[in-house]
Amino acid sequence: QYPKRIFSGIQPTGSIHLGNYLGAIAQWINLQNNNEDLILCIADLHSITLPHEPENLSRNIIELAATLLGCGIDPERTILFQQSNVPAHAELSWCLGCISTMARLAHLPQYKEKSASLKDIPLGLYIYPVLQAADILTYKATHVPVGEDQIQQIQLCQELARMFNNRYGQTFPIPHTLITSSEYGRIKSLRDPSKKMSKSDPDAKSRICLTDSIDDIVSKIKKAVTDCTSQVTYNPDERPGVSNLISIHSFVTKKSVGDICREVEGLNTGQYKTVVADAVVSYVKPIQESIARYINDQGYLLEILNIGKNRASEIANENLKQVHENLGL
Ligand code: ADP
Ligand code: NA
Repeated sequence: QYPKRIFSGIQPTGSIHLGNYLGAIAQWINLQNNNEDLILCIADLHSITLPHEPENLSRNIIELAATLLGCGIDPERTILFQQSNVPAHAELSWCLGCISTMARLAHLPQYKEKSASLKDIPLGLYIYPVLQAADILTYKATHVPVGEDQIQQIQLCQELARMFNNRYGQTFPIPHTLITSSEYGRIKSLRDPSKKMSKSDPDAKSRICLTDSIDDIVSKIKKAVTDCTSQVTYNPDERPGVSNLISIHSFVTKKSVGDICREVEGLNTGQYKTVVADAVVSYVKPIQESIARYINDQGYLLEILNIGKNRASEIANENLKQVHENLGL
């Protein structure tokens, strides 16, 4: 009854790394290239739930827009916009917040994790998943590509959609998750392969960002933590460090893990790092050049975000109008 529409978002909290690229952006490009109806949101309202520097945030928003375009997001085919430019997200979040319960939100794992180190927990951090549900439902999205760590948030979104429909009449589709756990799984931190590669890791050497200089990329890969076995074998449980390098290598060359292991037999892990670094550099270089061109043309970026805002608002405002009517507002 609802046409297929895919919604996804990403926070402008720092430079995009290979994990984000492989775990999220590469999937979006595939969906876009399969002509899916795709809406991509730069989730800036989510990124103020933790303390932030306003100047960094505005820079990160522009850099993220440039990165997405540089990776191949085509603003003609995909709606790319900045969340705070479409007030319907915040308003629907309020409406959904009124049918959410404190008890339900307290159980979500991400909240527990993120608040663990905080003495005073911002209300925004607590209701973060409600805003995420609003993002999706604002567009009546039917499919949401997410990593496994997001499944519980999507379940909340499904519950809120059902609850709203039951109380106030059919309004929202129940969105499905498109699990994007690729064959590579999660890319791991280069410094501590028991953790995932993350923007929020304080050690910048733990991740390879698309905007890193070539020298940095090479040096980070050469310093990646492996183990004391010198052979190159793939075993993510016993040898997470070298296996992570093989996964990255496989992704950037599109060669299978098996083929790679056969090809590099005889190299030790130190020599293998040079091979991986070369492969990553060749893959990332054209993307970097493209990102740099966009960053140097901020007028164009702002124009793209403005077009995205208008296209997103048109859909959002119509849906929000129905929400108002059904709520009796
Ligand atoms: P980060 O931890 O870097 O801040 P986010 O939580 O903002 O990443 O996630 C943005 C997107 O990137 C999500 O779709 C998430 O599943 C994906 N992602 C993040 N880190 C990785 C990783 N190490 N490997 C694969 N995908 C990842
Ligand atoms: Na994060």
